[in-house]
Amino acid sequence: MNKPFLYRLTLSSIILTGIFLSACTGEEKASSESGEELIISATNPLNGRAGAIEEGLKLFAIKCSQCHGPAGAGGPEAPDLTDGETNYGDADDDLFRIIWYGTPNGMPTWEKNLGKENIWKIVAYLKNIKKKP
Ligand code: HEC
Repeated sequence: MNKPFLYRLTLSSIILTGIFLSACTGEEKASSESGEELIISATNPLNGRAGAIEEGLKLFAIKCSQCHGPAGAGGPEAPDLTDGETNYGDADDDLFRIIWYGTPNGMPTWEKNLGKENIWKIVAYLKNIKKKP
């Protein structure tokens, strides 16, 4: 093997590794800005906690109502959240994931802006405004 070949090989693997690494860190940032490992419990840890729903309501009014409507019944740009079904699952942890990560079609991520505790408060509120059949 001649030197220029080895040189080119090394150079291109350095460049490829760089591209690979930057792609990876980009993704990591999107999924966990805080760097903290995310463990999502299947049911809302705040279930039954006094005040969680009201605190969720306050947060919803500030962060979510401009798109989803003041009572979560939907707006021109965002779906009704009282109909009890989302396109991404309806369990507590599904709602948590939707809010934490956002979705591909316009729902922003709230991981950094709200954090775990506040997101669970909003999940408690969303469960509460769900129309009973
Ligand atoms: C900038 C506008 C906007 C804001 C602010 C917003 N959302 Fe959304 N949200 C959307 C859009 C658009 C969708 C539909 C996205 C999709 O289908 O992928 C959506 C989808 C959802 C869904 C899934 C609904 C379904 O039927 O599939 C939930 C749950 C949700 N949002 C909760 C929230 C909560 C809670 C907040 C506040 C923390 C919030 N959203 C703030 C725009 C917004």
